[in-house]
Amino acid sequence: MDVLNSIALPQSKEHFHLLLLVYNIVMIFLLPYLALLVGSLMAALLMDRRAGKTGDADIGHLARRLAGIALPDRSTFIFLVVLPSIVVVFLFVQMFQGTTAMAAGFAALGALLLIAGGTAGFVFKFTFTLDDMIALAGDGAGKPDGAAPPVAVAGFLAATRMSHRRSGNWAAMLLLAGVFLFVGASTIGLNPEHWRAVDGFFALLLTGEVWIDVLAFFAAAAGMSGAGLLFSRFVWHQGTAPPGPEDALILRTAVRLATAGILAMPLLFLLGTALIPATSLTGWVYVLLAFSFAAFGLALHFLYAFVKSGRTLYVALLLPMVVAALAMSVTKNQVALHTATADHAAQLAVVFEKHTEDLRSSLGVMAKQMTGEDIYNARCSACHLFDQKKVGPPYKEVLVKYAGKKPALIAFVLNPVKVNPAYPNMPGQGLKASEADSIATFLMVKVLGKTQ
Ligand code: HEC
Repeated sequence: MDVLNSIALPQSKEHFHLLLLVYNIVMIFLLPYLALLVGSLMAALLMDRRAGKTGDADIGHLARRLAGIALPDRSTFIFLVVLPSIVVVFLFVQMFQGTTAMAAGFAALGALLLIAGGTAGFVFKFTFTLDDMIALAGDGAGKPDGAAPPVAVAGFLAATRMSHRRSGNWAAMLLLAGVFLFVGASTIGLNPEHWRAVDGFFALLLTGEVWIDVLAFFAAAAGMSGAGLLFSRFVWHQGTAPPGPEDALILRTAVRLATAGILAMPLLFLLGTALIPATSLTGWVYVLLAFSFAAFGLALHFLYAFVKSGRTLYVALLLPMVVAALAMSVTKNQVALHTATADHAAQLAVVFEKHTEDLRSSLGVMAKQMTGEDIYNARCSACHLFDQKKVGPPYKEVLVKYAGKKPALIAFVLNPVKVNPAYPNMPGQGLKASEADSIATFLMVKVLGKTQ
C-alpha cells in the first residue's frame, strides 16, 4: 500500500472536486456493465451445469447466449472494466492520500481479480465454441476420408470440456472476490470512521455495510442480466433469429432474474443509505435516491407491460431504465463521498498550497503571507467578535465543538454551510486553503488555547 501512497500528488480543492467528478463518470460506466457481466456469467455457469446434467440442448444454448452477453468482445471488456477499474484505483490513491484508509489497496486488489476473472470468463466463453468445432470435426473423423483419428479428437474434446469447466469455476471465484473488494473499497470510503477502523481484509469481511452493498451489487447483477437477456433476444437479435422453442425458456429465466433484481435493489439501496453515517448525508443524497426509486418503478412497469403485451418497445425501454437507476445510485454515493471527504480535502488543499508556496519561494517569487490575526481583522471582524454576537455568533460559543477538529473548521471556513437557524447564512470568504489554515490556528489558539 505504501507504493500506492508514494505515487499520490499534492492537490488543490479544485483538483479534489475534479477527482470526484471523474470518479462519478467512471463508475456510471463501470458499475452497470460489471453487474451485467457478473450476473450473466454466473447465470451462464448455472445453466451450463444444468445442461450438462439434463442434456437439454435449449438450456445449453441459453448458457452460451448468456456467456456472449457477459463478454461480447475484448474491447468492451477493456474499455468498460479494465481501464475504468484502474482509473478508480488511481482516483482512490489521490483522494485518500495521507489517511490510513485502505480503499486504494482494496480497489487495486479487486481490480486485478476482476481482470483475471474476466479473462477466465473469456476462456469459458470460447471453449463453448471450441466444443462445437471439435464435435463437427469428430463427425468428419468418423467417415473414411476423415482427417483426424477419432481417439485423438475424443481426448482433445475431453481436455476442452475440462478447461471449460475449470475456467468457468475460476471466473466465478475471481469475479466474486474482485467484486467484494472493489465494492468494499468504495463503501469504506464513504465513512471516515472506517478509514481508521478497517485496517485489513478481515476487518473488511466484518463490516456490515460492505455486505449490504455487495448484496445490492448482486441484486443489480440479477436485474441487469435479466434486462440484458431480454434486450439481446428481443431487441438486438429480433430480426436475425426467428422465434424458436428456446424463447419460452429465455423469457422465463430473464423475467425471473429481472424481477428479483429490480425488487431487491431499492430495498438494499435504502438499507445501504441508512447505514451511511449521518455526517456524510445531505439533501441531495435523498433526492437522488428518490430519483433512482422512480426509475426502478418505471423499469418494473416496463417489464410488466412487456410480459402482458409482448411489445419489444418495452424491452428497449427496460434496460436503459435499469442503467439510469444504477447511475443515479452511483451519483448518490459520489455526493455522500464528497461530504465524507470534505475535511480531508481541505487538509490536502493546505498541504498543496504550502507545497506551491515552497516552490514559489525556491524560485525567488515571494508571496506576502497574511497571518491569522491579519485575516481576522480584515475579513472576519466585520461579522464576528469573540464574546459577543454580531452578524455571526461569538467565536467563544461556536469554537468549542471544533476542539481537536481543525480540518473541519478549515473546511467550514473554506465552504460555509448552514448551521444555526437563528443566524443568516455565512457567505463564502474566498480564502485560500493556507489562509483558512492560518485563521483556524489563530482562532483555536485564542479561544481554546491550543493549535489543533
Ligand atoms: C458577512 C458576515 C460574516 C463574515 C464576514 C464571516 N462570517 Fe462567520 N459566520 C457568519 C454567520 C451569519 C454565521 C452563522 C452561520 C450559521 O450558523 O449558519 C457564521 C458562523 C461562523 C462559524 C461557526 C460555524 C459553526 O459550525 O457553527 C465560524 C467558525 C465562522 N463563522 C468563522 C468565520 C471566519 C474565520 C471568518 C473570516 C474568515 C468569518 N466567519 C467571516 C457571518 C460571517
